Amino acid sequence: MKPTTEPRTARNERPQTYRVKNFGCQMNVYDGERMGELLDAQGITPAAEGEDADLVVLNTCHIREKAAEKIYSDIGRLTKGKTQKKAPMIAVAGCVAQAEGEEIMKRAPSVSMVVGPQAYHRLPDMLDKAVKGERATDTDMPAIAKFGALPARKRRSPTAFLTVQEGCDKFCTYCVVPYTRGAEISRPFNDLLGEARKLVEAGAREITLLGQNVNAWSGEDDKGRAVGLAGLIRALDPIDGLERIRYTTSHPNDMEDDLIAAHGEVESLMPYLHLPVQSGNDRVLKAMNRSHTAEGYLRLLERFREARPDIALSGDFIVGFPGESEAEFAETLALVDAVGYAHAYSFKYSPRPGTPAATMDNQIATEIMDDRLQRLQSAINRDQLAFNAGTVGRTCSVLVERKGKHPGQWLGKSPWLQSVWFMGDAAIGDMVEVELIEARPSSMEGLLRA
Ligand code: 5AD
Ligand code: SF4
Repeated sequence: MKPTTEPRTARNERPQTYRVKNFGCQMNVYDGERMGELLDAQGITPAAEGEDADLVVLNTCHIREKAAEKIYSDIGRLTKGKTQKKAPMIAVAGCVAQAEGEEIMKRAPSVSMVVGPQAYHRLPDMLDKAVKGERATDTDMPAIAKFGALPARKRRSPTAFLTVQEGCDKFCTYCVVPYTRGAEISRPFNDLLGEARKLVEAGAREITLLGQNVNAWSGEDDKGRAVGLAGLIRALDPIDGLERIRYTTSHPNDMEDDLIAAHGEVESLMPYLHLPVQSGNDRVLKAMNRSHTAEGYLRLLERFREARPDIALSGDFIVGFPGESEAEFAETLALVDAVGYAHAYSFKYSPRPGTPAATMDNQIATEIMDDRLQRLQSAINRDQLAFNAGTVGRTCSVLVERKGKHPGQWLGKSPWLQSVWFMGDAAIGDMVEVELIEARPSSMEGLLRA
């Protein structure tokens, strides 16, 4: 990117307003909110919808190539005044910042700050430097220091994310996360209880516990006893006003018996499980360093279904991992048939710099990946519609999240994380009883009952 000659720029002025643009996963949404709270505490206010922001934070994702490349075109548009009238001060945060911090500084001279996911609590200091015209990079990984240095939660919304665990020690051979988010750390039990209470006081009725391997969370409860994720969920369940608990993302190898049992016992724990498998073939799973088999994964899901028969199952898949044959891919389709997912994400394999799979032999041609992805997605869509159709006629709770396009229309989520549209008298944050009357591929039509 060439140095720019923008006529009007907020680059070296103390910003009055900010906007955080999140890419990628839910943890980035959480981090984005916490960066917002830090900036609020500096007296900088969120820019109104449609208004220019003096500071734009691009909170980036490095998981696949497309996600990472997007960042440079965004920087270009902001700098050239295509996104807003006045070019803002730009901070790049998130996993691209962590992985390619120096390159960003070289390639994009209009970027003032580069801050990694474990260092964003230092944003205010970096901002002071940026205002003086100094460009600042901070991609240190001071384990857990960040959380203690952040201001108290004050976000108002019926649904909230809460990061309980961060980082990953699994080193799947395709994945950048162990490098960008660092080693697995668990936040302390009491801090999490405190943050959850604050979120509920501010209006949250549903909390989603987040972690790259959330089910690897471990800690000590207030009596000094070792607890896992299920223990944490059981401790959060009695919080007055907290009606729904979810968690994501889990790894098949860290699944403890008590978490499975909790699905049959803890009322606020929603009947939904996101458990990535990536492939249905054991050779591919081994090459991915997943350390579980397809059969082991299926057995695990069976145990969840025994504990909670109506549980909605979700997963992640990668097609076209180096060396994946047609017969091996067919086993992925067979696994999808065997599970009957309520929902699933599927991706074409994307070589990530520095990961072992990026230099493996037999990288798969794009056309083959496109074809496999399309076949996989049609199988997943078929099952998703079948799951939705299976819920028609049920009356369930719906937590209202926002207004629909039409007057009197509302959108909320069912316990199985389906998006439910309904008409009637409601407000954001209400928990209403809705009969599910019609299934669509990715949403449900509901009838307000109470
Ligand atoms: N290429 C494609 N998909 C990937 N994922 C992670 N790394 C890659 C990659 N290099 C997918 C996995 C993971 C999800 C978050 O992203 O399916 O579960
Ligand atoms: Fe990446 Fe594997 Fe860790 Fe998930 S478990 S974050 S896919 S390395």
